[in-house]
Amino acid sequence: MNMIFLGAPGAGKGTQAEVVCKELNIPAVSTGNMLREAVKNGTDAGLAAKKFMDAGELVPDEVVIGILKDRIAQDDAKNGFILDGFPRTVAQAEALESMGVKIDKVVEIDVSDEAITARMSGRRVCEGCGNSYHIEYKPTKVEGVCDACGAKVVQRIDDKPETVQARLKTYHEKTAPLKDYYQSRGKLVTVQGQNDIAETSKLVLAAIKG
Ligand code: AP5
Repeated sequence: MNMIFLGAPGAGKGTQAEVVCKELNIPAVSTGNMLREAVKNGTDAGLAAKKFMDAGELVPDEVVIGILKDRIAQDDAKNGFILDGFPRTVAQAEALESMGVKIDKVVEIDVSDEAITARMSGRRVCEGCGNSYHIEYKPTKVEGVCDACGAKVVQRIDDKPETVQARLKTYHEKTAPLKDYYQSRGKLVTVQGQNDIAETSKLVLAAIKG
């Protein structure tokens, strides 16, 4: 099954993708994580992406489409995948279609801007594997250490309050139009993401299986 998780920054796409991947045994493909890795490694894509990411803006379509295409061509994605954070523009969605990628479902996780703004200050991410935590709602077992890989967990540069507001603005302008795009193709299901993580997972899994 090929799925897209759609939603505002901090809606819980990464958190829910982790749950669903374990349940369905398919990989989560996060363009955000791949771009952060590229920045860390100083690759051409990373150099092109950094200034946009730090400002809370979208990285140019051609950069993201290139890395996404390479990733979903890998063996572990043959039986399905979850795209977390891609597509983010109508041009990216069209690129996916022109690659011949069939999308079975688009799950929108709907959270208000107010709830997101409150959530983001507590988010921590793993420097090693990119796993996402929250100091209150999803703490690591050992403070500051990733449960999955043991690397350090840190606050993301783009989780500063002013950058979060810029990311929300970008989301509403550039990414929210994808709701109509996938609705008109009969693919969109919307779940409320304002409950706690476990409750949201139940809604997401029900939406996928329904
Ligand atoms: P990316 O990493 O994709 O950032 P994002 O979409 O802004 O999404 P986040 O990772 O911030 O949030 P999430 O929805 O995964 O939430 P999470 O599960 O972590 O992209 C970063 C940047 O890269 C972009 O700004 C852009 O520059 C660039 N980029 C990436 N893809 C691109 C593309 N396709 N095109 C162009 N540019 C691209 O949850 C958030 C926090 O809340 C966590 O702490 C979590 O523990 C907690 N939480 C989650 N669910 C709940 C809940 N139900 N209750 C309480 N807390 C919760």
